[in-house]
Amino acid sequence: MNNDLILGIESDEKELVGWIFLKDIDHGHGRASIGILLSSESRGHGYGRMAMKQMIDLGFKQLRLNKIYLTTRGINEQAIALYEKIGFIIEGKLRNHAYVDGKYVDTYFMGILASEWNK
Ligand SMILES: CC(C)(COP(=O)(O)OP(=O)(O)OC[C@H]1O[C@@H](n2cnc3c(N)ncnc32)[C@H](O)[C@@H]1OP(=O)(O)O)[C@@H](O)C(=O)NCCC(=O)NCCS
Repeated sequence: MNNDLILGIESDEKELVGWIFLKDIDHGHGRASIGILLSSESRGHGYGRMAMKQMIDLGFKQLRLNKIYLTTRGINEQAIALYEKIGFIIEGKLRNHAYVDGKYVDTYFMGILASEWNK
């Protein structure tokens, strides 16, 4: 069965500053994709890292997933830096996969396994 789970991200002041989701939750294959969006004025304050860690923890420990994955544009340095710090590995690069601001850019496929998260 496929399901999505979306949660709001609260600031220290208890205001809604973004969303994080697990999508295409597939218990048969033990995997789900993850995505996050913060309001522009809320970025760079640690909310992204905190929300990602909590959602990944939920995915591995409560939903008992084996793998969480995502795609991001190769030009999104902020997001890639965050994902790599959390432990995601670049598993592949889709060349010239998107057309952004007048040029073709790569899409990165990144993933993390439960065994890597639990270390
Ligand atoms: C990507 C995003 C979720 C990161 O969340 P965030 O709260 O801004 O990030 P954090 O404050 O938790 O920072 C985590 C790491 O991201 C990187 N980072 C944060 N702000 C950055 C900036 N302005 N420039 C470059 N890297 C940055 C740093 O590596 C940082 O680690 P550090 O604090 O040890 O330096 C957020 O910026 C966002 O919503 N961006 C727009 C939507 C988006 O791109 N979503 C992802 C699509 S795949």
